[in-house]
Amino acid sequence: MTNKEWKYDLAQIDRIAGELWTTIGNHKIIALYGEMGAGKTTLVHALCNYRKVSDHVTSPTFSIINEYRIRENSKFEKIYHLDLYRLKDEEEAIRAGIEDCIYSGNICFVEWPEKAPGLLPPDTISIRIQFVDANTRQLKLEFTS
Ligand SMILES: Nc1ncnc2c1ncn2[C@@H]1O[C@H](COP(=O)(O)OP(=O)(O)O)[C@@H](O)[C@H]1O
Ligand SMILES: [Mg+2]
Repeated sequence: MTNKEWKYDLAQIDRIAGELWTTIGNHKIIALYGEMGAGKTTLVHALCNYRKVSDHVTSPTFSIINEYRIRENSKFEKIYHLDLYRLKDEEEAIRAGIEDCIYSGNICFVEWPEKAPGLLPPDTISIRIQFVDANTRQLKLEFTS
């Protein structure tokens, strides 16, 4: 079991993003827990910016599936940013194509993973974000393999 913790404000988020990428290593699925406004989306954007995103595609269906393209050496890699907030349950998530993203082999950040816990593989990295004060957040990361 790996556990790590950070406290950060927006001035530090780019450095945190770099440290998170190092910790993420070869893991592909990263679930982000935290209440509305905790900073899940902000963190995913910082993580994607860190990898120098060259293109951003948003799904027409309420931006449930966002796709970022990054250039890795000479080839392109995809990062999915999934927001399950508006989905009712696992069945609706599958119909929206969430499972296809999760098993595509690409990196996937998943907001509101509570909506479809059964779709997450066992080696998913969990990130929990909590408010400390208006500008500061605490992030706890854990994974088992
Ligand atoms: N340290 C911080 N990390 C992330 N967001 C922060 C931080 N401090 C303030 N904020 C603000 O909190 C809000 C977080 O919103 P958002 O990322 O959309 O949350 P979520 O996706 O969890 O609902 C943004 O307005 C952001 O500017
Ligand atoms: Mg969000």
